[in-house]
Amino acid sequence: MKIIETVPEMKIVRFKLKEPVGFVPTMGYLHKGHLSLVRKAKAENKSVVVSIYVNPTQFGPKEDLSKYPRDLQRDLAMLEKEGTEIVFFPSDKEMYPEGYDTWVTADKLTKPLEGDSRPTHFRGVTTIAAKLFNIVQPTNAYFGQKDAQQALVIKKMATDLNMDLEVIVCPTVREPDGLAMSSRNVYLNPEQRKSAPVLYKSLLLAKRLYAEGKKDTEKIRGEMAALIQKEPLANIEYISIANPATLEELQTIKKSALVSMAVKYGNTRLIDNMMLGE
Ligand code: PAJ
Repeated sequence: MKIIETVPEMKIVRFKLKEPVGFVPTMGYLHKGHLSLVRKAKAENKSVVVSIYVNPTQFGPKEDLSKYPRDLQRDLAMLEKEGTEIVFFPSDKEMYPEGYDTWVTADKLTKPLEGDSRPTHFRGVTTIAAKLFNIVQPTNAYFGQKDAQQALVIKKMATDLNMDLEVIVCPTVREPDGLAMSSRNVYLNPEQRKSAPVLYKSLLLAKRLYAEGKKDTEKIRGEMAALIQKEPLANIEYISIANPATLEELQTIKKSALVSMAVKYGNTRLIDNMMLGE
């Protein structure tokens, strides 16, 4: 496994890789969710590139950039075990040299949900994704359904900017109690951790209500909120039932819907989602 820290070297090595090239962008502190993407990339491509880069431009001024968890040695050991060919691990200076001045933004899709509480987040995500795609030039790039809006925004960017790659979205990997795996779960204290599976339970409740024939989103959202509010440590930021392509809120579910939420435990913000009616 080769660890590459500069853009010129990555570009040179890229053209020696066997095609097709699968790419998994990450911010490190890897868990089984990330590894599921690496495995899928491995299964569907001849070479796999994983990037580890905590992208500063997608963090807001009051967010957790400086204390975002990092453990490069552990990450590298995990990636080596999965048979990763290349790890791209650039510095901030490499990605945003002095005078850096260009941004990639998607518009409508980035306004609601995560964009509402994190107004500069997606500009950072699309900018770094576009840069990484230009540097790595993957055939296929792998993203997690865990970050449903991010996956949608990146797909849209790739289509709108005629990028020559396939964006592949993989299912959310969960802990045995249902909590979606996330690098940020380490911030939870034992009581918060015990309570956090309520996000998934509320999604299962929505699924059950929908299966029973309930289509009125206000009612479904209300029952989900009531369940979450039974947990004294959980603070709901939003619960959304939206059109899965446009992210516009629905009043009634016709064909399908993306149910998504952000819930805060202290300063830790957890997100989760589920598709209904697929
Ligand atoms: P990060 O949070 O490290 O996640 C990297 C990828 O892993 C994303 O596509 C994310 O959706 C996926 N992922 C995270 N948890 C998952 C889980 N439990 N199951 C399945 N997939 C999961 O998302 C980012 O980094 C950044 O925004 C990035 C795209 C790298 C741009 O900086």
